[in-house]
Amino acid sequence: MNKPSAKPHILVARKVFPEVLERLGGHFEVDHNQADVILGVAGLKARLADKVGVLTAATDPVTAEVIEAATSLKAVCNLAVGYNNIDLAACSQAGVMATNTPGVLDDTTADLAWALLMASARRLPAAERWLRKGDWRGWEFIQWLGTDVHHATLGILGMGRIGQAVARRALGFDMRVIYHNRSPLPPDQEAACGANWVDKESLLRESDFLVLLLPYSPATHHSIGAAELALMKPTAHLINVARGGIVGDAALIAALRERRLRGAGLDVFEGEPTVNPGFLELDNAVLTPHIGSSSRATRMAMAMRAADNLIAALSGQRPPDLLNPEVFR
Ligand code: GLV
Repeated sequence: MNKPSAKPHILVARKVFPEVLERLGGHFEVDHNQADVILGVAGLKARLADKVGVLTAATDPVTAEVIEAATSLKAVCNLAVGYNNIDLAACSQAGVMATNTPGVLDDTTADLAWALLMASARRLPAAERWLRKGDWRGWEFIQWLGTDVHHATLGILGMGRIGQAVARRALGFDMRVIYHNRSPLPPDQEAACGANWVDKESLLRESDFLVLLLPYSPATHHSIGAAELALMKPTAHLINVARGGIVGDAALIAALRERRLRGAGLDVFEGEPTVNPGFLELDNAVLTPHIGSSSRATRMAMAMRAADNLIAALSGQRPPDLLNPEVFR
């Protein structure tokens, strides 16, 4: 009969790179989900019954019910910078440490914000679909006219690390950069990304390209709805690489359909992976399936960072990205 392993038992709730499982295997007995079946609340409760730690993704609902059922659990380490899938208060109450992966995905996510911005400005997906369909019968002087990015005003709502990385990229396009945050950045950080704080209404009224980078919470739900869209220029483009739910999708669809907004580049959606079918009918919306941090190098760095957090948490050290420090004693 096999002796039960002396190593602590953990779960990796979504498919990850084999290198990550190998690293975790050096410290823990690893139950994994390489079949990548979404576990949901019931699956997490069942698989966490005997676990002290778990690596979760944004698709794993670590609710109060899950935390209550997982009586041995000591650490939840998210494979994401956002952690709105985790009930942090429930973790803290149960003495469970929670961590995320800040820093390692800033540049990759900023790159995608720019990819969507450029694609929306120059109408790349629609033009490409048209060409592939065989509709290009000849070059025309007035054909597929887009919006200039250079010298335009870039607005950023939510000026954390990713917002600042987006702003720095605008320096090469000679853009005016404005942002809104609860509080302005320190002057040296503002200078480093050439951005100026404005109130939210000015941000909405003045931006030619508005990039959303707020964390999602009940307080940021529908930060951009019909009233906010009505303040934007009809020539503006809206880019969301943060979370679905920050924008009211139905209001955005109506604004794009009625050309009250020129374009949108969206990586996240309310209720994803279901996408409001209204978006699919629009030629002025560029849509990607939540791939903001999805380069091989960055996803590897995120997974290794989550593994670092879990290894630290379960060996009595303070995890580098601890979200609820009150739990660490
Ligand atoms: C991805 O969406 C993340 O929050 O890291």
